[in-house]
Amino acid sequence: MPRALLAVFLAAGLAASVAAAPRSIMRAQRSSPGDLEVGGELAGLLPGSTRYVRYQDLLELPQETYTVSDDSNLLRNTVIGGVALATLACLFGRLPGSTLIVAICYDRYRTNYPRDYRAEHHPLLVLRIDGKLSDQWPRTPDGGSLGPYLISHPFFKPAFQVLSHQDEPQIPYGVTHLEFRRASVVFGAIRPPGQWPADSPVEQGYRIARQDCFRCHNSGAEGGQMSGKPWLELGSIAQSDPDRFKRIIRNPTSVAAGARIPGEPGYDDATLQALTAYFKTFSPPSRR
Ligand code: HEC
Repeated sequence: MPRALLAVFLAAGLAASVAAAPRSIMRAQRSSPGDLEVGGELAGLLPGSTRYVRYQDLLELPQETYTVSDDSNLLRNTVIGGVALATLACLFGRLPGSTLIVAICYDRYRTNYPRDYRAEHHPLLVLRIDGKLSDQWPRTPDGGSLGPYLISHPFFKPAFQVLSHQDEPQIPYGVTHLEFRRASVVFGAIRPPGQWPADSPVEQGYRIARQDCFRCHNSGAEGGQMSGKPWLELGSIAQSDPDRFKRIIRNPTSVAAGARIPGEPGYDDATLQALTAYFKTFSPPSRR
C-alpha cells in the first residue's frame, strides 16, 4: 500500500477506535488501585477534575508491541505492549493547545512528554511485559513495584544535546496519573524571568533543568515533588553557595551522606555554570 494511503488508512482506523472506545471509559469513580488517573485540560472536564480509566479498558485500546533492549528498568530483549501516549492524547479528547503529557508517579516524581519528544521517541504506556499482565510483572532492580504503569520506548536515540546534557530517556515506573497540559503553563512555571538569548548560559540551564531537575523539584503546583525542595530553595543555594550547589549536582554524596538526588558526574564545568546561572535568576531579588 502506498505510504500516503497507509497513513489515511491508519488515521481512519484510529478514528474508528475512538468511536469504538468512547470517552465513557473515563469514569468519575475509581474502581481499583490499578486504575489510571487522567486529568489536566481535557475537553468536557472542568480543570482540576480527575477521571479514572480501568486497566482492562486500556487493554482494549489500539495496542503496539516492541522488543526493547535499552531500557534500564527492563532486562534486554523484553517485549513490551501497550498504548502510545500519542494515541491516548487523541482518545482522551485533550483541548487544543494541551500538547504536553505529564506522567505522575506514586512517589511524586514527574516526567514531561512535550510534543517534540513524543514525535522523536514514541513513548508507550506499558500494559504488558513479555505478554504478562501487571500482576505478574518483575520487580524493579531495587525490589520496588514497576506498576501500576510504566513508560518505555521502542528504542531511544538522543535527539538533542545542551552542553554536556544529552536528551535522556524518560522512563518512569510506578506511574499512577497522566495529565494533558499546556506546555506554556507547566514550563512557564520555571521560565527564567527576563529575556535571554538562546545560547546564553541561563537559557541553556533552563533547557537542562526542564528535562532533568523538574522531575523531582517543583515550582508551586508544577514539577515533581519527590525531593521536597522547591525551585526557590534551589535558587537560594545557587546564589548563596554556588560551589556547594555544583557539588550537589555532580557528586551529591560528597556534600550529604545518603543523598537520594542522583549525581550527574558527566556534567562538565560549563554545564554546572549554566545551571547555576539559571537557578540564580530564581533567588530573591534583594540578594541577586
Ligand atoms: C530523581 C530526583 C532528582 C532529580 C532529577 C534532581 N534532584 Fe535535586 N534533590 C533530590 C532530592 C531527593 C533531594 C533532597 C536531598 C537528598 O535526599 O538528596 C534533592 C536536593 C537538592 C538540592 C539541595 C541539597 C541541600 O543542600 O539541601 C539541590 C541544590 C538540588 N537538589 C539541585 C538539583 C538540580 C540543580 C537538579 C538538576 C540538575 C536536580 N537537583 C535534580 C532529587 C532530585
